[in-house]
Amino acid sequence: MTTSLLRQLPDLIDEGRTIADEARLASVHLEGHDTAKQLITADNLATLLRLKPGRARLVYLDPPFDSRANYRNRIQTRSATGELLVLDQFAYQDFWDDGTAEYLRMLIPRLIVATELLADDGAICVHLDWHASHLVRLVLDELLGRDNFVNELVWSYRSGGASRTASVPRKHDNLLLYRRSPAFRIQPLFERQYLDKPFIGTKQDAEGRHYVDTILRDVLEGSINLVEPGDDPASASVQAVSVRPVLNVSAERTGYATQKPEGLLELLLRWTTRPGDLVIDPFSGSGTTAVVAERLGRNWIAIDASERATVVARTRLNALGARYQHTSMARVSDGKLHVEADAGQGTVRLVSFEPPADLAARLSGDLSTAITGDALGALAGWSAALGSHTITHWRSATGSLKIEAQFDEPFPPDTIITVEGFDLAGRATEAQRFPI
Ligand SMILES: C[S@@+](CC[C@H](N)C(=O)[O-])C[C@H]1O[C@@H](n2cnc3c(N)ncnc32)[C@H](O)[C@@H]1O
Repeated sequence: MTTSLLRQLPDLIDEGRTIADEARLASVHLEGHDTAKQLITADNLATLLRLKPGRARLVYLDPPFDSRANYRNRIQTRSATGELLVLDQFAYQDFWDDGTAEYLRMLIPRLIVATELLADDGAICVHLDWHASHLVRLVLDELLGRDNFVNELVWSYRSGGASRTASVPRKHDNLLLYRRSPAFRIQPLFERQYLDKPFIGTKQDAEGRHYVDTILRDVLEGSINLVEPGDDPASASVQAVSVRPVLNVSAERTGYATQKPEGLLELLLRWTTRPGDLVIDPFSGSGTTAVVAERLGRNWIAIDASERATVVARTRLNALGARYQHTSMARVSDGKLHVEADAGQGTVRLVSFEPPADLAARLSGDLSTAITGDALGALAGWSAALGSHTITHWRSATGSLKIEAQFDEPFPPDTIITVEGFDLAGRATEAQRFPI
């Protein structure tokens, strides 16, 4: 019989404290790690320990959910010859050898370290679902104190399949919100609801629609008409914020597995932070938190262990014109890239790529057959960084020996270019840096 998780929980919390303390002893504060906006490719435990404590207004964590599934990305790209390719790649694993206890052994030390980063008036929000939210809530009660529980926000959606008989369809996630201390304050948000008929207390806008403005509550679904209350509610600005799940047809979809809607993060950030505040996301994935923080004028630090995740995040942040520091602490050792750059033309050309000998064995499913025989076919994407700008290309090079990227402008003098490639297993090749 497996030991009850409830009985194991105190030991798991103690173990988490020990793991955090041991990691703390090994950690070094890295120069340059206090910059306002940063994307970091690395494991989040060591990285969080390198950040200055007591500064974050919000730490948002969207970790694996203990869902016993592997997640895959579906990224559409074009080959060098223009052919449409769909890359179905492994994204991250949510299987734990010793089940939920093992999952909690991963998460608890990270929660301990994350809470230390909070300012006195800061809050932590842990995004989970039915698999583990009940257990993590007990852990957070223990770490932060039950009195500091603020609320459980419910993000409700209608997407995905559901068993008709095993359960009433499970269609919501749980976002556990805890404050560091009573100094934390919510910025209340208001929503406008339009009504078919007038009732007592309803108003009418300039277009004759009947409406009522109410405080936004803790169950979020669909599209929410956020209203900025002004002196005259009839002329107050109304903004539709969509918290619909990111589906195939969504404009914001990156193809990164488990990407969260920007609208959900927008509401959370507006509730819990002000412009200029620091928001930290240790499980950043496709970078949704950083993108929303950037749009709303917050500072941010986003961390993900996967190169593939941070490539997607960089693409999104660069499209916004964000200026930030990107640090990669991942091991960059697989394969070799040969790249040529033409300063006058503003062109970077990938000449050849030598994947590691065991690459095919590491790939699973159909992809392993697709790459044999053509070394470059193993390269799923590459990126070139110019200062703080990154230009990312999700280009498969199957059947071709050259990939070219044309930049909008010739490179400025003394530019250093860093080029990294990513194979289909998500590993970075040796990065190549050269001056122009
Ligand atoms: C649920 S996804 C986050 C999705 C994200 N909120 C978004 O909107 O795209 C979880 C992410 O955590 C990352 N991850 C898992 N374990 C990690 C670790 N120890 N350190 C850093 N990142 C980790 C995975 O690579 C994955 O991208």
